[in-house]
Amino acid sequence: MTIKLPPSATACVTAQIANDPAYGAVIPPLYLSSTYTFKGLDQMGTFDYGRGGNPNRNALAQTIATLEGGAGGVVTSSGMAAIDLVLNLLGPNALVIAPHDCYGGTHRLLNSRQHQGRLRVRFIDQSDPHAVKQALADAPALVFIESPSNPLMRLVDIAALGKAAKAVGALMVCDNTFLSPARQTPLALGADIVVHSTTKFLNGHSDVVGGVAIAATDAHAEQLQWWANCTGVTGAPFDSYLTLRGIRTLHARMDVQEANAIKIAQFLSTHPSVDHVYYPGLKDDPGYALAKRQQSGPGALLSFALKTDRAGLGRFVANTGLFQLAESLGGTESLICHPTSMTHRAMDDAARQKAGISDSLLRISVGLERSEDQIRALKTMFASL
Ligand SMILES: Cc1ncc(COP(=O)(O)O)c(C=O)c1O
Repeated sequence: MTIKLPPSATACVTAQIANDPAYGAVIPPLYLSSTYTFKGLDQMGTFDYGRGGNPNRNALAQTIATLEGGAGGVVTSSGMAAIDLVLNLLGPNALVIAPHDCYGGTHRLLNSRQHQGRLRVRFIDQSDPHAVKQALADAPALVFIESPSNPLMRLVDIAALGKAAKAVGALMVCDNTFLSPARQTPLALGADIVVHSTTKFLNGHSDVVGGVAIAATDAHAEQLQWWANCTGVTGAPFDSYLTLRGIRTLHARMDVQEANAIKIAQFLSTHPSVDHVYYPGLKDDPGYALAKRQQSGPGALLSFALKTDRAGLGRFVANTGLFQLAESLGGTESLICHPTSMTHRAMDDAARQKAGISDSLLRISVGLERSEDQIRALKTMFASL
């Protein structure tokens, strides 16, 4: 039987396969060398020094650029390095508009750059058209979006905001970490640059910390490459090798993890101890219709608020079974995390409250285990409440 794969699943599996001129290796070899010989004076080969270029890192950047439909980009040492790299494209005192419920590390980075006087940042509810209109009237240089957002899974209409951002001359940068190009391609919707924590779905095995910034145009891609070499934020060859290996199974992983997430969201949404489930795959979720339009699936992450106090929450996560109580997401194994005390502890209480991140909120990154086993583990947790 022939299985017809969608083009980007094929692109993941075949990326950089069998292009080794030395030995015909099917899988691209690992190049650890930090430096490369010149044939003579002024005769540099493709690479000169590993900070600026490396075959594994370049192969990974080219692969993700193809998957995202971009002109090119840079693989960085972490997702935060990718976001910080993009900020180098801004002039002095530029205004950045960011979602008030973004990843805690992004919130901390933008606030800290503001405290240094490098830029100005305004955190707004990007799902509120009035707040967006007001912010755009102040001539921002960059509109940063995270869709779905971490951890409340709020969606932003990327095409509409991209159009509005362009109209005021702002760059739009989209963090696509939560979905990966297997489920969403923001450049096709009008974003100028896509960033990822490749630590998550792209690598997919919780054994690399990395990032990438991909630009829609050659001009932006070249600027990003220049700044990455200048500041030295580029990723390591072995990490790039592992991430490309992880990408080969991206679609297969995403398909199963998402199917499991849908079942878990349905289970949670009818449970009497659950106050609310945040998942754009549920029909009554405010992001459901938009997800249908701009995503090719709801993804494998969800959050839910429990009807309990801090002591109950402690009991709930004391015996998580196959769910590991840990930060991060997008790996093959299921993780559960408490944003207030874990991923979003870098935000102060007031900022968390404003963003709607309550103390009773838990986030699940749904893994590849059998969904029956996942739901059994959740039932054991509920029994401890
Ligand atoms: C949405 C999002 N963006 C960026 C990052 C930062 O990535 P990294 O931890 O690889 O620096 C994270 C980390 O959790 C994230 O969830």
